[in-house]
Amino acid sequence: MAQGHRKNSGPNHHTTHGADKRETAIKKALAKLPAGEREKILSELDKTVGKKMRLFKALCLKHPSLEIHSHNVASLSLLILKKLKEKVENRKIIGTPALEISSLTTGVLREGAMFHDIGKIHFSRKMLENPLLNVHQEGMRHKHPERGAVLSRGLLEKDSEIIIRSHHENHGGDHLESPTGKGYPGNLSGEKIPLGARIVRVADSYCAMAEGRTNKRERSQRDIVKEISSLKNKSYDPLIVEAFEEAVKEFNIRKINGK
Ligand SMILES: [Fe+2]
Repeated sequence: MAQGHRKNSGPNHHTTHGADKRETAIKKALAKLPAGEREKILSELDKTVGKKMRLFKALCLKHPSLEIHSHNVASLSLLILKKLKEKVENRKIIGTPALEISSLTTGVLREGAMFHDIGKIHFSRKMLENPLLNVHQEGMRHKHPERGAVLSRGLLEKDSEIIIRSHHENHGGDHLESPTGKGYPGNLSGEKIPLGARIVRVADSYCAMAEGRTNKRERSQRDIVKEISSLKNKSYDPLIVEAFEEAVKEFNIRKINGK
């Protein structure tokens, strides 16, 4: 796609804006590396991978846990979709939900899940490692879905961008995760949240609790699944939780510290 350098309105405005922000974010993510090394990595990335992978690699270089987490969330999301599609085939899910499931492609879900936290490229390493955030950092955390959507614009599929934007919305619209007690950023609920985002919401929560992050206490898989199941209709879509309960039995999570 042709991309000019215009900053004012016009058909390419949003795309150009996203591309500019992307370049700035990539450069910032690599800012701590010595200049020579940074230039070498950037030119290597230019040669060897496309623009999508260049952005993803910059996120991975920010913190290794983000790479492992993104892969875990993508794998579990695809397993959940597989279970949902089987339920549609067996007519255990019918009507509008069945249509929605049938029209979600693995390509879009994989891309949305892999890049779901791309907005965290703006976080400091300290923020990524410390669960106790101050008010300013907490505000920044709540902006990562929208900032991620901006970085994806014109680069990823439109439907993947929507997954990134909506992956912290709550099915029931009334969970305690945000200062307003709602999901974020749109306070969407139920089927207003795109299916891909409702799937990533569940996969993301499970992986964040089960990956063995140093800032979180170790919990058994059973305990984590129980917690997710208890939040059906609140944070999570019940149909997706049911598919997750089956999918997680086949899922091998990659632990963050190689445990
Ligand atoms: Fe997130």
